[in-house]
Amino acid sequence: MSSKPSRHEPPPPGAWTFFRQWLRHPLSIAAISPSSRQLARLMVKELPPNCERVIELGGGTGVFTRALLDHGIADDNLMVVELNEELHHHLSRRFPDVHVALGDARELPAVAKKAGYADAGQVDAVISGLGLLSMSHELQQQILESAFSMLRPGGRFIQFTYGPVCPVAKDVQQALKLRNRRGGFAVWNMPPATVFVLTQARSKAVEARPMGTPRKRRSGSGKSDIQASR
Ligand SMILES: C[S@@+](CC[C@H](N)C(=O)[O-])C[C@H]1O[C@@H](n2cnc3c(N)ncnc32)[C@H](O)[C@@H]1O
Repeated sequence: MSSKPSRHEPPPPGAWTFFRQWLRHPLSIAAISPSSRQLARLMVKELPPNCERVIELGGGTGVFTRALLDHGIADDNLMVVELNEELHHHLSRRFPDVHVALGDARELPAVAKKAGYADAGQVDAVISGLGLLSMSHELQQQILESAFSMLRPGGRFIQFTYGPVCPVAKDVQQALKLRNRRGGFAVWNMPPATVFVLTQARSKAVEARPMGTPRKRRSGSGKSDIQASR
C-alpha cells in the first residue's frame, strides 16, 4: 500500500450511513464525515511498541478499526465501542470477528465484561474517535477515567482534534494526572486534524528497606515507554 495519502481516496464504506446519523444526532456524532485514512494511519502510528490489546471508542464506520487490523492488531484483541445503534450494526457486519460493543465509553469495564473482552486483562492503548471538543468537562473526565481504568501502566490514550490544542480540558488533565504530547497532523482530513497522545503519571509503590541498607540502583534507561518509542 502506498504511504502517500491520496486526495481521491474513495469514501469509506458506510459514509452515507454516517452522514444520516450526523443529521439525526449532530452532537454525539460530532463530525460531518468519517475520518480519512491518512488520519487513521497517524492515529495507529502512536500505538506503543509491542502493542497487542486495544480499545477503540466511537468506531463510527470503522476507518480506525480497519487501520488497527491492517497494523496487525488481532481481531480478538480489539474491542470497538459505539453508542449509536445503526453505526454499531454497520460495524458488527463489517468486522464480524472483532468485539464490537453497543455501549457508552463512560462505562468501559462493564461494556468489556459484557462483550467477553475483560478476562484477558488490561489494554495497551485506547484509540478514540470521540468528539471530545464538543463535550462538557464532566463528560470528558468520566470518559478519560473509564479509559485509564482499562489501560495498563504506561498505556496510551490516542485522540484526534480539529482544534489547535489538546482537546482534553486542562482541569481534567490535572485531576487525572495526565500528560499530553502532540502527534501527527492530517492535512487530508475534513477538517484537518491533529493527533494527541495522553499518558497518566501513576505513583509507584515504595519498597520498604531495612534501616542502613543501601538504596537499590535503578536498572534500564530510565526512559518512560512514551519516550522509548520515539
Ligand atoms: C466524530 S465520530 C468518529 C467516528 C470514527 N471513529 C471516525 O473517525 O470516522 C464520533 C463517534 O463516536 C460515537 N460516540 C459518541 N459518544 C459516544 C460514547 N459516549 N460512547 C461510545 N461512542 C460514542 C458516535 O456515535 C460517533 O460514531
